[in-house]
Amino acid sequence: MVVTGAARGIGQGIAQVLLRNGARVVGVDRTAGEGVDVVADISTPEANRDMVAYAVQKYGRLDAVVACAAVSRRGPFVDIQPEDLAFTFAPTLYGAFYTCQAGAKQLIAQGGGGSILIVGSVHVHQHNPNSASYNMAKAAMASLSRTIASELAGYGIRVNSILPGWTDTPGELNFATREQLDEAGRRLPLGRLGQPEDVGQAALYLLSDEAAYVTGCELLVDGGITLNTRSANSKGNA
Ligand SMILES: NC(=O)c1ccc[n+]([C@@H]2O[C@H](COP(=O)([O-])OP(=O)(O)OC[C@H]3O[C@@H](n4cnc5c(N)ncnc54)[C@H](O)[C@@H]3O)[C@@H](O)[C@H]2O)c1
Repeated sequence: MVVTGAARGIGQGIAQVLLRNGARVVGVDRTAGEGVDVVADISTPEANRDMVAYAVQKYGRLDAVVACAAVSRRGPFVDIQPEDLAFTFAPTLYGAFYTCQAGAKQLIAQGGGGSILIVGSVHVHQHNPNSASYNMAKAAMASLSRTIASELAGYGIRVNSILPGWTDTPGELNFATREQLDEAGRRLPLGRLGQPEDVGQAALYLLSDEAAYVTGCELLVDGGITLNTRSANSKGNA
């Protein structure tokens, strides 16, 4: 299985859970590190083709790709410059698209089905301000997920998305302090931020034979962040 963005955060969490459960994982990241087999910027078709070729050469076949690598440059909508859009879209939209495409090509060529897993975001449903380019990219990937689930079902290829909520990763420390993250976690319905392991466990299920009949699914792993808790907090008085 190929996991992009495997050097840290959610991608690392997914790779670690898969490894612990016996999967053969090829970790890909633009940054070298533990668990990274291929150092590459996954924004281009060529990089994705090459990482899939590496996995096939190493393990003889590909079972799944996990499109996790992404970036976000936040700021007011009216201030977004073309280079800001390009920065976010390069891995988060185009790169993730090419990861799915390179995976699908290999899975179709070798036969026998397989899995594509897209790490999306609750921002697909919860349109937080100052994240226009990121939200757009994730919404596009949600559309791609359902579209190609339908296109690839005939090949026995399942395509699913996980929509993580607010997850405690190094990337989040670009936008908030440790204290702000901890406080935000305490205010969530389940009382904490997500951990990469939480997303890893969901990935393990969706990539496993136990999910053999699951495709086109969007699995929220969000600690309830998208729930309307107003009534619950006011003891049932809406
Ligand atoms: N942390 C959250 O709250 C949260 C919530 C919802 C969704 N997500 C999604 O989860 C995924 C991982 O997020 P995270 O918080 O772990 O981020 P992170 O910034 O902590 O880690 C992202 C990893 O992706 C790698 N990466 C980025 N661009 C790359 C590129 N072009 N080529 C190769 N590798 C690249 C980085 O080097 C890094 O190792 C992303 O798709 C993100 O949108 C995160």
